[in-house]
Amino acid sequence: MNKKLSKILIDKTTIDSEVERLAAEINRDYEGEEVLLVGLLKGCFVFMSDLMRSLSVSCSVDFMIVSSYGSGTESSGKVNIIRDLSEDIKGRNVLIVEDIVDSGITLDCVMDILRERKPASLKLCSFLSKPSRRQRDIKIDYCGIEIEDEFVVGYGLDYAEKYRELPFVGVLAD
Ligand code: IMP
Ligand code: MG
Repeated sequence: MNKKLSKILIDKTTIDSEVERLAAEINRDYEGEEVLLVGLLKGCFVFMSDLMRSLSVSCSVDFMIVSSYGSGTESSGKVNIIRDLSEDIKGRNVLIVEDIVDSGITLDCVMDILRERKPASLKLCSFLSKPSRRQRDIKIDYCGIEIEDEFVVGYGLDYAEKYRELPFVGVLAD
């Protein structure tokens, strides 16, 4: 196994079919409407680029960079906006695109911030979810794959900024 991974958790074929499934749901729900995909960098960019190429609905993209205050692997309950959106979202259909929902604290804060800007609708699409880690009651409107409490990398997800380039999702060897 390359790059110190203990196993491949989700292979490329599974990823591709999951992206197609999510895109089909989004295409159905937003038919005839415009959607603004809001990606949370950096983790979202691989999934988001695949997802949007499977969308038939009219879409545009924008990005935010947020970091949770505090140190280590635990979120603190507040987020710091490092780079804000360049688009005004008032009256628009906003779909947040995330790599993974873990505690849910980041998304909870980001959704509160965006809701205050009065979008026409605000929904969430996440490629992965770790339900057992949840500390906030987050509704994932379009949820890819639920995983166990393991630290995963690849397909945009990193460990110390590494492994994002892997075309599959793997579990790090400790
Ligand atoms: P939350 O606020 O705890 O939900 O944090 C979510 C963020 O933590 C994600 O957007 C990821 O950037 C990061 N994260 C959580 N779990 C993992 C993981 O298993 N691998 C890589 N990044 C993760
Ligand atoms: Mg992230």
